[in-house]
Amino acid sequence: MQKESLKQQLQNLSSQISAMHLDHLERKWITISLLVIGFFVGIMTIDAFFHGINPPGKVETVDSASLHLSKEFAEENLGVQVDDQGNITVRMVAGRYSFFPKHISVPAETRLTFRWVSMDVLHGVHIPMTNMSTMIVPGYVAEITTTFPKPGEYPMLCNEYCGLGHNHMWSNISVIAKENWTTPAKLVSKGGPSHE
Ligand code: CUA
Repeated sequence: MQKESLKQQLQNLSSQISAMHLDHLERKWITISLLVIGFFVGIMTIDAFFHGINPPGKVETVDSASLHLSKEFAEENLGVQVDDQGNITVRMVAGRYSFFPKHISVPAETRLTFRWVSMDVLHGVHIPMTNMSTMIVPGYVAEITTTFPKPGEYPMLCNEYCGLGHNHMWSNISVIAKENWTTPAKLVSKGGPSHE
């Protein structure tokens, strides 16, 4: 019953629209606007389903004020860690005006999970010549999984204005050939990243 009336309402609406007088120019611009909208929705659909570009599936929060007391982002846990399944996680803290640790070295051609948190204001992280770029919003964990195809020295730059020292906020990543990379001494025995 309800469904039937909704259908009728829609039919009425569409007949009203088709009966509406539209100027030729108006019709033309409506068509152009719809095409533009369709074009962008199309790009988003292709990106989402074929290129895997999606908004973060999970939102992880963290207390920015007590990072040093947190299990995961305490100073001794920062940097590159390998768990017992061989997964590599890089944990870094962004703060005015650096990423800590200031320098990391990771293997090329290996899947890496980066996890960043901010200890003060909004920062961003961008690694030139890669597709890696994200915001680091205080209170949230920014996570990106990536692979560096080639060894080399990469800068890690802040790309969100965060204060007077913004221009000087960067760290270095040394990407080392897979066979020459040595596992850091610190080994996380836990199966995965710990959460507060
Ligand atoms: Cu941090 Cu700009």
